[in-house]
This record gives sequence, structure tokens and C-alpha cells, in this order.
Amino acid sequence: MNNDRKIKVLIDEKRIRDKVKELGKEITEDYNGKTPVLIAVLKGSFIFVADICRQIKVPVVFDFMAVSSYGNSRVSSGIVRITKDLDFSIENRDVLIIEDIIDSGRTLNYMIKNLEARNPRSIEVCALLDKDVPRKKKNKIKYKGFDIPDKFVIGYGLDVGERYRNLPFVGYIKDEQ
Ligand code: IMP
Ligand code: MG
Repeated sequence: MNNDRKIKVLIDEKRIRDKVKELGKEITEDYNGKTPVLIAVLKGSFIFVADICRQIKVPVVFDFMAVSSYGNSRVSSGIVRITKDLDFSIENRDVLIIEDIIDSGRTLNYMIKNLEARNPRSIEVCALLDKDVPRKKKNKIKYKGFDIPDKFVIGYGLDVGERYRNLPFVGYIKDEQ
């Protein structure tokens, strides 16, 4: 399938599975008695949200937002654009943003600012991966999966040029870095 380039595993399936369970448990405890709105950021978060939602044992509703900060390049353009907005109002709701990866943090900061303006009751962030890059602003990631080195990673929803999203692990392409 993906054998035309050498792919190295950074986080294998089992580690992802265990972490997703652990985060789901924490979220379940914290949202006891509430019905949070899980806002998944497309496309990268589609696998993570599908897995983690099944580990959350309180009622949840879903909405999706698509933002683009990279275009087709690997380097963030710095300009964040909403390409698909939410379907529902989040006024007075407990919002939990589900993100695949935080790199520069620009996308997340933009999302939080944008969503805060819609008057939710609360906003928290659950991110599977947090890249070790220097950032001006500290991100508020309440539920974090893994800290990873500053590498371009693929798999488990993450792509390069729309490929590799279906890899069951998080990896990177060898020889490139
Ligand atoms: P940020 O705005 O720089 O934090 O970038 C966030 C978005 O860029 C993520 O939600 C991903 O969609 C994408 N992204 C950042 N780093 C990577 C990576 O290493 N692999 C694939 N996509 C990435
Ligand atoms: Mg993303």
C-alpha cells in the first residue's frame, strides 16, 4: 500500500489505543452530568474523534469544522481560513475541541478565539499530538495524548498531500528528516 517510501513508526497502534482509552476516561469523569459538543477539526482529526468518542461514556453531540492553514504545503501559511463552519449553535454548551496535532498553535488559537465569540459555557481542548516547537503563546491543551519531536508526521488521520491518513499508527517518512 504505502511501500513506495520508507515509513518509520513513531507511536504504534497499541500506545495510541491505550492513550485514547485513558483520555476518554478522564473526559468521562470531567463531563459527568453534561453533554459536551465534540468539535472535530477536519480532516486530520476524523480517526481520533471516531476512536475517542467511543471511550467517552457521557452523552455527546458532534459537530465538525474544517480550517486550512497549510494549503497543500507542509509549512503553515500563518493564515487560518474556515472552509467548513459548524452546523449548530454552541451558545451555552460545553465545547471540547478534538485536534489531531498542534504545531505552531495558530490553528488552535484561531479556533478558540472564533468559538469563544459564540458564547459557549466552556471550551477545552483535546489534542492527540503536541509538537515540540517554540511558541509565543502557550496553548491550553487540557487533554493531551503525546508530546512529539518537531518532525512532520503522518498516519492516524494525518496526511502529506492527502496520503497516508489510513495508516493505523503515527509515523514519519524516513530519509526526509
Ligand atoms: P498549526 O496551526 O501550525 O498548529 O497546524 C495545525 C494543523 O496543521 C494540524 O491540525 C494539522 O492538520 C496540520 N499539521 C501540523 N503538523 C503536521 C504534521 O506533522 N503532519 C501532518 N499535518 C500536520
Ligand atoms: Mg488539523
